[in-house]
Amino acid sequence: MGILSLITGRVGWSGFGSGTTAEQVSTSIDASDRTVIVTGGASGIGLETTRVLALRGAHVIIAARNIKAANEAKQLILSNNEKAKIDVLELDLACLDSVKAFADRFKSLNLPLNILINNAGVMFCPYTLSQDGIEMQFATNHLGHFHLTNLLLDKMKETAATTGIEGRIVNLSSVAHLYTYAQGIRFDKINDKDSYSDKKAYGQSKLANILHANELSRRLKEEGANITVNSVHPGLIMTDLMRHSLWRMRILKVFTYIIWKNVPQGAATTCYVALHPDLKGVTGKYFLDCNEWQASKFATDPELAKKLWDYSHKLVNTIQSS
Ligand SMILES: NC(=O)c1ccc[n+]([C@@H]2O[C@H](COP(=O)([O-])OP(=O)(O)OC[C@H]3O[C@@H](n4cnc5c(N)ncnc54)[C@H](OP(=O)(O)O)[C@@H]3O)[C@@H](O)[C@H]2O)c1
Repeated sequence: MGILSLITGRVGWSGFGSGTTAEQVSTSIDASDRTVIVTGGASGIGLETTRVLALRGAHVIIAARNIKAANEAKQLILSNNEKAKIDVLELDLACLDSVKAFADRFKSLNLPLNILINNAGVMFCPYTLSQDGIEMQFATNHLGHFHLTNLLLDKMKETAATTGIEGRIVNLSSVAHLYTYAQGIRFDKINDKDSYSDKKAYGQSKLANILHANELSRRLKEEGANITVNSVHPGLIMTDLMRHSLWRMRILKVFTYIIWKNVPQGAATTCYVALHPDLKGVTGKYFLDCNEWQASKFATDPELAKKLWDYSHKLVNTIQSS
């Protein structure tokens, strides 16, 4: 790493920075002994993550609600890398029955599971309830991933124990976790329509992604499981995520062009945290531009993380027993 690059902020201590691409962070890493699930792997950052992990030899399962788009994504990757090992399985994170069905189907394949990338997400949607009756951004971005991760955890522990390869879970959060409701997480008003803010609800769900990663990391450490859990902000990237705010984002991009990334750069932090050997044993951290970063006060509050865990657990049980 050049000292000039470090001083100018182009790269950080890891040797990588905002301009680094997913291919660059994973150069010379052999991932042919890894099986990975990427939620939302059919588009945007998830698609590039899938492409690069497959390029490094990993067997990648794209977990997507739109199977047609996921199969097209698979074909696109195969057209440039015929050796890519990619499978597609249906998953709708906004429906806990679908999450359970996905986990059951995955387990029936008898595959190992080394890496879980909780990447799928929705942003700034108008007030909507999920099929399970939960505010859509909280349901998709947090609750679905919370349930999915819990259902796959035994498989990940078993894989890590039998292979000796460290398991890794990566939650796609966002710098938007800084902009949330006054309480951080509105446990008593998760579905409140009158005070709903599309932006704060997104920030709340992205805060939940970090708190989930931190509490799970703490639990796995306590158990002595060989699995790390971290969260990342990928940067600002023009993707389909902006579908509910396209024009605002296009205008914002004109004035803030310098801080935007392209998709290959946007997938770099995910691939770094999922694969890089320098991060062996690193868990419960938040990364930005392929470097560890300080998350917000709410995001680093262990009591809030525990409260969210208990709340999510109860919510999942209530939904499933209704
Ligand atoms: N782009 C950015 O600037 C940015 C910044 C910070 C954080 N992030 C985070 O990065 C992640 C990836 O975003 P992206 O920019 O790559 O957006 P994207 O291209 O829209 O990808 C999101 C993926 O999630 C899928 N998805 C949405 N709802 C789902 C559901 N209920 N079940 C299963 N899959 C679902 C989408 O599938 P459909 O096509 O079917 O909707 C899509 O494939 C998100 O978690 C986002 O919050 C992005």
